[in-house]
Amino acid sequence: MIKILKPIIVVFFFAGWILNGTAQEKIPYVEELLKKMTLEEKIGQLNLVTPGGGIATGAVVSENVESKIKAGQVGALFGISGPEKIKIAQDFAVKETRLGIPLFFGSDVIHGYRTTFPIPLATSCSWDMELLKKSAEIAALEATADGINWNFSPMVDIARDPRWGRIAEGAGEDPYLGSAIAKAMVTGYQGDDISNSNTMIACVKHFALYGASEAGRDYNTVDMSKIKMYNQYLPPYKAAIDAGVASVMSSFNDIDGVPATGNKWLLTDLLRNEWQFNGFVVSDYTSLSEMIAHGLGNLQEVSSLALNAGLDMDMVSEGFLETLKKSVEEGTVSEEAITIACRRILEAKYKLGLFDDPYRYIDKKRPNKDILTKEHRDFARKIASRSFVLLKNDNAILPLKKNTSIALIGPLANDKSNMLGTWAPTGDYKLSIPILEGFKNVASNAKIVYAKGANITDDKELSKKINVFGKKAEIDSRSSDEMLQEALSVAEKSDVIVAVVGEASEMSGEASSMTNISIPETQKRLIKELVKTGKPVVLVLMSGRPLVIEEEMEMPISILQVWHPGVEAGNAVADVIFGNYNPSGKLTTTWPRNIGQIPIYHSMKNTGRPEVNGYEKFKTNYLDVSNTPLLPFGYGLSYTTFDYSDIKIDKPEIAQDGSVTISVTVTNTGNYDGEEVVQLYLRDVVRSITPPKRQLKGFKKVFLKKGESKVISLTLNPDDLKFYDSSLEFVAEPGQFEVFVGTNSDATLKTSFELKP
Ligand code: BGC
Repeated sequence: MIKILKPIIVVFFFAGWILNGTAQEKIPYVEELLKKMTLEEKIGQLNLVTPGGGIATGAVVSENVESKIKAGQVGALFGISGPEKIKIAQDFAVKETRLGIPLFFGSDVIHGYRTTFPIPLATSCSWDMELLKKSAEIAALEATADGINWNFSPMVDIARDPRWGRIAEGAGEDPYLGSAIAKAMVTGYQGDDISNSNTMIACVKHFALYGASEAGRDYNTVDMSKIKMYNQYLPPYKAAIDAGVASVMSSFNDIDGVPATGNKWLLTDLLRNEWQFNGFVVSDYTSLSEMIAHGLGNLQEVSSLALNAGLDMDMVSEGFLETLKKSVEEGTVSEEAITIACRRILEAKYKLGLFDDPYRYIDKKRPNKDILTKEHRDFARKIASRSFVLLKNDNAILPLKKNTSIALIGPLANDKSNMLGTWAPTGDYKLSIPILEGFKNVASNAKIVYAKGANITDDKELSKKINVFGKKAEIDSRSSDEMLQEALSVAEKSDVIVAVVGEASEMSGEASSMTNISIPETQKRLIKELVKTGKPVVLVLMSGRPLVIEEEMEMPISILQVWHPGVEAGNAVADVIFGNYNPSGKLTTTWPRNIGQIPIYHSMKNTGRPEVNGYEKFKTNYLDVSNTPLLPFGYGLSYTTFDYSDIKIDKPEIAQDGSVTISVTVTNTGNYDGEEVVQLYLRDVVRSITPPKRQLKGFKKVFLKKGESKVISLTLNPDDLKFYDSSLEFVAEPGQFEVFVGTNSDATLKTSFELKP
């Protein structure tokens, strides 16, 4: 029997009360429950464990999970899925503990659940908020069908260092676009009502600044001014909070010398008091006990530090479970602080509807009905094709004719194991469509011959490291020369060469930082030899990060960046290669010319000695390379061409509360129908703190038929002109603003207006 069930009709008696300065509404049911709970039971709710069924990303997994649940020492579980298993675990909590409080079931549903979509860095390149929201809705539908009700996503860390492997998991470098995507994902996962059985609680992560780890090395120190934080790195987390995200995950890194998990400024002053966040905060995987290695004390000390800082739930460290009672006895933690954390967790369970029905997400019929449906796979194919970025198309090689004779070459050309990309533990790589199969599906009249051509890497040590979750980069028994010769003879017999090259999926992602982000040497050699044949060459480039490809960009070839495209990889790539879909993706990160340019991003500052054209002594430039990136933020070509003209602004000056609308005529001047992402960049000419050269402040994705023109309008609202000044006030300062509209962040079409005092 379920010992506690929410009465069917709850008397909504919300009394206002104050929690750390945040006005909240009391949930009477939760208050009654809290009164019945012992200190131990409250501490139990703060404990998140994993039996290790998923991927353990830390050194430990939890032990004795079953007996802990039955002892009331667990508030939530992750790493198990499926109605049967989840029912068993929920029964332990509901039927065998004194108060029968149901568990949450968490998971990392990062880019789709079983139907795996492209990696998040890829989908961000669609700049299509409806599509992104829909991807989150489908992920929620599938995950909840499998019993999951709490998702450790979206990851919204701004990332400007492609060496950092986790750049793959986020939306790139820009706070404006990142905020829009954060909102789309949170509303997609949570829907209008999280108690619906097809929506789940989202968890925005990793709070905060994790993407700014020094030198792009994972888990590394972060040191950043508040001005940079507020203006550049915090907005996407804030956007998720404003969109109503129900939980937040603290990050591994330190901020101002205190790890996020124990950082009171971050978790209480900023998150609760300034941003009015009312949900609960969970640590990252053992990030609580990792504060010992950070040098902040023993488990007893770091656990009380974290609780007092505002952490509510401890993922896997079991620091709360093991130490908090003693800390209460010793007076370093108050029972009230534990009650507050417990209340936040119970409130979330209440909102999910778990007290109404702890088995709400457990329905044996749903997996078959809701998971991996044709509709979901079709969507995976669609979103993948929208995330590809055409980097160059020399001699308009693309799109290929469907009856061409093609040499399909490369270590990723007939591969299933790398298609899903990093962090797809809920997907099944065996279901992915290899590129070769997709080509045959889409162009059944084409003559296609395949050769592997090269290993992903010849480096045995590297290959071992990236094969920890299964074989991703196996080294062939043949020598590199043998493989190359085979590829060249296949190429010789074909009209066009399509080379599918790049990174294995585990060359990016967590703990997969790299200091060399070029295409691996053995594949570079293959590409050069293929180009030497004189045949037209198309590179289909896979990676979880921006790569350094200056050499390849100079070759007379075409390059389609497809990231790791998800379960429908082959079909989606073929759709674009053969012109079923005209590519429209735009980069959400700046691509450097070489590693030495990092960090490089479009909203950099002018400095007091701005660069001129070419090198000049005593200007801000390098001796050996230009300041310009290889590919600017927002960049991406189409099979057609778009012309921008006639920039207009509706008023030359506006008041502080005014808006201004900029319009521009966009014409499809090429030979194909196509979509274009019209982008608006703003420069605040004079202000009290040095402004970025330009910042993205608006975009619109539009479809234009061949030959068609449209007037596209973008409006700047008062908040778009604001920034955090040196007192961290969010202000717009009077003066001149310049606006650039165009096809990427180098847009030159310009207008301006004045903001009046
Ligand atoms: C990652 C998180 C993830 C967690 C649980 C950690 O290592 O940083 O992003 O949600 O593991 O799997």
